[in-house]
Amino acid sequence: MSPKKTMRNIKGVALVLTGLLLAAPAAYAEDEVKTLPFADNAGNTVSVQRGARDFMAYCSGCHSLKYLRYNRIGQDLGISDDLLKQNLIFSGVKVGEPIVSAIPAKSAEDWFGRVPPDLSLETKARSPEWVYSYLMGFYLDSSRPFGVNNLYLANVAMPAVLGELQGWQVKVEEGKGEHQEGLPLKLAQPGSMTPEEYQAFVTDLTNFMVYAAEPNAKDRVSTGWNVMFYLIFLLLPLTYFLKKEFWRDVH
Ligand code: HEC
Repeated sequence: MSPKKTMRNIKGVALVLTGLLLAAPAAYAEDEVKTLPFADNAGNTVSVQRGARDFMAYCSGCHSLKYLRYNRIGQDLGISDDLLKQNLIFSGVKVGEPIVSAIPAKSAEDWFGRVPPDLSLETKARSPEWVYSYLMGFYLDSSRPFGVNNLYLANVAMPAVLGELQGWQVKVEEGKGEHQEGLPLKLAQPGSMTPEEYQAFVTDLTNFMVYAAEPNAKDRVSTGWNVMFYLIFLLLPLTYFLKKEFWRDVH
């Protein structure tokens, strides 16, 4: 191949690649539903405590948090071993064990068609906004095995385990009918919670999952401040005296 031709080929490939790169996000953005705004607050210990309790009650049957041990939660959130055993550990394991779901992968696959993923790093893999929105986004869809679908995970394999609390939503066409929270959904049948209560419930759950993805976050921040403190208050005077020492003979 002549150098000229090779050059032309390279240019052609570059052009196609650029086109693909430009087109891909646009195509992706088109069928993606915007996530709801959510300001995570894993520093709110009370919210994270409630989220931990609710996660154990409603989610840990199917999902594990395999990088997190029960007593680590206890230490971080100020929950004693006894309270952990009474309120958070349903599987009868010891407080030093990681949170592993009781459901065998094979049965899960048979029941749901998909193994419920470990959620340790979920808020990092997706985002806190996405997780919050996903938990808000279930709606009735009779074409699905569990009768529900999700705005953020098309053809979702997870049953709407919080449906009794949230109530049952139906999809309304974009731009038609009343919309809820900016989502194309309408509450068709109320649940045991009001929409505000449910939002608070899902906020706690998401805060807990943000904490679970990085239990060290608090330590990291305080280590950061310690380092800053050290640098400013110890090294600065030292540098100053060193400078004085160096310049003494010059002046
Ligand atoms: C009955 C079993 C079951 C229970 C209980 C359950 N889930 Fe799930 N969950 C699943 C399955 C199965 C999937 C996989 C869905 C898919 O990929 O279509 C899933 C997926 C998810 C995902 C999306 C993962 C991803 O990024 O693709 C999140 C987030 C999630 N679940 C959160 C929760 C939370 C929070 C709770 C508790 C309120 C919960 N789940 C309770 C079975 C369950």
